[in-house]
Order: sequence, then C-alpha cells, then structure tokens
Amino acid sequence: MKVTVFGIGYVGLVQAAVLASVGHNVVCVDIDQSKVDNLKKGLIPIYEPGLTPLVEETYKSGLLNFTTDAKAGIDHGEIQFIAVGTPPDEDGSADLKYVLAVAETIATYMKTPKVIINKSTVPVGTADKVSAQIGNTLNNRSIEINYNVVSNPEFLKEGAAVSDCKKPDRIVIGTDCDSVKEKMRELYAPFNRNHERIIFMDVRSAELTKYAANCMLATKISFMNEMANLAELLGADIEAVRHGIGSDSRIGYQFIYPGCGYGGSCFPKDVQALVQTANKVNYKPALLEAVESVNYKQKQKLFTHLNNHFNGELSGKTIAIWGLSFKPQTDDMREAPARELMEALWKADANVQAYDPEAMEECQRIYGTKNNLTLAGTKEAALKNADALVICTEWSQFKAPDLDIIAQQLNSKILIDGRNLFEPYLMKKKGFSYYAIGRGDSVKRN
Ligand SMILES: NC(=O)c1ccc[n+]([C@@H]2O[C@H](COP(=O)([O-])OP(=O)(O)OC[C@H]3O[C@@H](n4cnc5c(N)ncnc54)[C@H](O)[C@@H]3O)[C@@H](O)[C@H]2O)c1
Repeated sequence: MKVTVFGIGYVGLVQAAVLASVGHNVVCVDIDQSKVDNLKKGLIPIYEPGLTPLVEETYKSGLLNFTTDAKAGIDHGEIQFIAVGTPPDEDGSADLKYVLAVAETIATYMKTPKVIINKSTVPVGTADKVSAQIGNTLNNRSIEINYNVVSNPEFLKEGAAVSDCKKPDRIVIGTDCDSVKEKMRELYAPFNRNHERIIFMDVRSAELTKYAANCMLATKISFMNEMANLAELLGADIEAVRHGIGSDSRIGYQFIYPGCGYGGSCFPKDVQALVQTANKVNYKPALLEAVESVNYKQKQKLFTHLNNHFNGELSGKTIAIWGLSFKPQTDDMREAPARELMEALWKADANVQAYDPEAMEECQRIYGTKNNLTLAGTKEAALKNADALVICTEWSQFKAPDLDIIAQQLNSKILIDGRNLFEPYLMKKKGFSYYAIGRGDSVKRN
C-alpha cells in the first residue's frame, strides 16, 4: 500500500521503516530539513536497537523515502499517518498545534480520497477536531473529497520500538467505517498473522485507550515508589515486598520496580494531559493527580539523599552520574530523572561528571558546554575524583561493576542507587555509604 507518515520522530520513523520492511511503499514527511538530509545520508537521528539497519535496508530498497515536500507526500499515500509531537501546553493539556497543522496541510493539497490516521497520542475528541479542520479547508477550496479520520494509537516502548512495532501486543483501531476497517486490515495484515491482534472500537474509546494504558503503567510506578518510601520509614525492604506482591498472579512482576521516578516523553505528559481532559469535563481525577505528585517528589529523592549526606554543603562538590537517558536502550532524555538531579546540583553549585552509553550527544545538545558539566568517555572516567556516585539509569553495564574500582576512583565511598541495583548489606560490607530506594542500610538478607 502507499503510505505517508508525517513526523519522523521516535514513532514516525520506526513505524515507517517497519511498514516498509514488509513491502508497503512509505514516504516520510518532516519539516526538519536537516533531519531529512541526514536520513538520506544514512544518519539516524535517534538511538533505537535495530533501527539503523532497518532504515538503511528499506531506504536502499526504495520502499522508504524522506522528504520535506508535504505536497509530494500527500499525493503519494492513500493512507496518511500523523505522527507528530503532542507536547504539553502551559496547563499540561496536549498541545495539538502540530497535529492540526498537518491536518490542514493534508486538506490543502489532497486531490484523492484519503484515510488519515492519528498515531500521535491525542486527547479524546481530537479525531473530530482533525476531521473538522479538514472539512473546513476543503470547503474553502470549494471541493468535495472523501476522507476518514482514524485513531490508531501507538504503544511501542522506546528501547524496544522496532520489535514492538513488528510484533505489537495489540493494534487498536478507532473507526466506525467498514471500508476503513478493511483498509486497516490490509495495512496491518503482515503483523496480524500469528493471532488476531486488531481491536476495533469507536474513535473516542481508542483515543482514551492510549491514555489509560500509559496512566496505568505510571500508576504502578508511583504506587511502588510510595510503598518504597513507606518501607524506608518502617524499616522494611521494598525489594522483598516487590517479590512478595509480584508473586501474586493478579499483580505480577512487571512494572513494579521502585526507582527515582518515571520520565520520558510519554508518561509525564500523558498523565498531565488526562488530568486536564478530566478537568475539562468537571471530573476531579484524584488518583491521577496523586500519581503525578508522587512522581514529582520521587524525582527529588536522589538529590535529597546527596544533600542530606553532605549536610547541605554541596557547593564545590563533584558528583559522578551513571545514566542520563530516562531508561536503558534509548538516548531519550526527555523528563529524565538525571536532568532533575543535574539541575538541582548545579543550583547547589556542585559539578557533574556524567557517563551514559548512548545519551551523551543528547546531553550535550540539551545543555551545551558548561563549566560544571563534564561528559566522561567511560563510566570509570566519570568517577575520577568525584565525591559520590549516583546511578540514575539501569543500563546493563552498571549492574555488576567492579566495586573496588569505584572505591579507588571516588574521593569518598558514597553511592546513591536510584535503581536498586545492589544489595545494601554487601555495599555496607565493602565500606560504602549506600543509599537506595526503599531499602534502608540496616536491612539484611534473611
Ligand atoms: N516516543 C514514544 O515512545 C511514543 C510512544 C507512543 C506514542 N508516542 C506519541 O507519538 C507522538 C510523536 O512522538 P515522538 O516521540 O515520535 O515525537 P518526536 O518529537 O520524536 O517527533 C516528532 C516529529 O514531528 C515533526 N513535525 C512537527 N510538525 C510537523 C509537520 N507539520 N509536518 C511534518 N513533521 C512535523 C518534528 O520535526 C519531529 O521530527 C506523540 O504524540 C507521542 O506522545 C510516542
């Protein structure tokens, strides 16, 4: 099928490359000329496992193309995906200006019937707005062309985006139109062979499904962080509690790790946006508000541990940070806990020596060159003469480090572990002042 994808970000690029890999003919449109030029040279703007070879292979085969020429993109596809950003507005609502701008562009240039698919995460009612925008623009052109707006939210996880897109758990499609259902079946047939993954529903339910999924996952994280904070105060070990509750099949082990708060481009903004959606219909979303405020406090935790340890005297101290991305296997630093920590440290006049396997360029792009930020070439180099080590992201290479090297390189053996990677009693035995999440240094293994 001929497909056009507007927005070459984490979602658009992965979706486009995966669709091209099964034989669809895909044109990607973005307003960012340098992104398009780089992609044509084989330079992939993001780190995502498996993405580079997939883009190279599909681009070479001619089934994946990149352009800034929106008109050409609109002429190309009978299917038009909208996969542009929906960042938070000032009040936390999803800002639809990019989505509606694409809708307007499509309506300005379309000459033949189109199926317009909202892949971006958008509040309930957005398909109606996109539809109205297209209808108005076509009216202004005094032209009648058939079009349908479909909600098809994306559930990929950064860090596993390619495999999630190739083997989705489910394909949620919001439409009431039978002919569109057939087209969507045809589009996704290569991903639907093993078992039925498509779930058809009405458009509004599809839009809400995406928010409900992300808010559920964010709720699990905030719940565990709240339990961890309680465990700390009550002298319990949250890791034992995690095993204890995860073994209940109704609860399960997935997504119940306590830590230094959720980040990324989705959970924070999607929880906020659903709160705003609820407010607009005069519903007080008490649970969602709590999820957000627990997370906000949790993100301060690493700094609080450091500040308490140094009795509020962080000025002039150098802090090593391992992990800058909001989670492993991505270079995405949007809303990452490491950012919260670094910014608090700089406010306190401390220096940061950081290392991340993939997010160093992104960190440089965000913060530029600063006297109080050193990006170290290796995780060991980040430790040199630092006064403490903080682990913000659970990259595999941080899980079993040589503790003797850490002890030798640091000025003092202080380790703040935002991901509970180590056993408190072992760290104590090695002579570290060790702070984790919800564990307490007195906790011993039975
Ligand atoms: N990142 C994720 O893990 C993820 C997962 C599921 C859903 N989503 C949702 O998907 C959407 C996109 O997220 P993302 O992370 O891929 O965003 P992104 O910021 O990485 O990419 C968005 C792209 O859209 C481009 N763009 C903006 N306006 C445009 C226009 N008028 N025409 C063409 N291109 C335009 C930008 O230049 C950018 O390249 C968001 O709504 C997000 O919530 C993201």
